[in-house]
Amino acid sequence: MAEIRLDKFLADRTSYSRSDVRNLLKNGAVSADGRIITEAKQKINPDTQEIRLYGKKIHGGSLLYIIVNKPQGCICATEDKKHKTVLELLPEELRHKDLFPAGRLDIDTTGLVLLTNDGQLAHQMLSPRHHVPKYYLVTLAEKFEEDYIQKLSDGLVLADGTECLSAQVQKLDDTHCIICLHEGKYHEVKRMFAALGNHVNHLHRAAVGSLLLPPELPPGGCMEIFTKDIEKLLKADSFSVLCKQIILAFSSYLINDRP
Ligand code: URA
Repeated sequence: MAEIRLDKFLADRTSYSRSDVRNLLKNGAVSADGRIITEAKQKINPDTQEIRLYGKKIHGGSLLYIIVNKPQGCICATEDKKHKTVLELLPEELRHKDLFPAGRLDIDTTGLVLLTNDGQLAHQMLSPRHHVPKYYLVTLAEKFEEDYIQKLSDGLVLADGTECLSAQVQKLDDTHCIICLHEGKYHEVKRMFAALGNHVNHLHRAAVGSLLLPPELPPGGCMEIFTKDIEKLLKADSFSVLCKQIILAFSSYLINDRP
């Protein structure tokens, strides 16, 4: 990436306006490679310099982070002969930036998918070692039984002997719940409910870490996210806090069964 003005870089990548940024600079809140910068028009290169605001690294440069609300029928791949891919949800100018989906949702699962060219962040998000929580709104075919909560918390063993990590679940009504997983095995949620004798009719990923899919982002929609939200992707808030936020954000989903 070419050099750009420091005030523009910060205003583009944070929630601060250009004039807020000028004040932050005056107050000595911004550093480039460890040196305080106070000049708004100072040029920086985000690819080679480390920019910090109040000591927090501001991601930038050629690393991109886009979230999409994956619709049904679309697959988490970079190319496919048969199906539309999540890459095709992006505007043309973003299709050739080496973006890839950080993790996979099934073709019929909807919701939050991160597209990035930051291999390190994708690895952190997906590595079982980091246990980044992933939250799904589940629509079941049969009634949610109270004993699911304990069984899922104990860690289910699937039909083929696969052992699942402990999962948290909150019942919403007779056929809806929120489940939180700390790993991402193949068809895991569907296979978990199959092992419990139920069937998943629909699955929607509502949050990753403590980042909620913005409820105003329509199916098929995408948006770039910046430092504040990228940090949320890797941060685990308490299950009950996230459930409350998901219920508030997705109340229309629960009524209509689709976002
Ligand atoms: N679990 C599933 O079964 N499917 C998904 O798409 C994601 C989690």
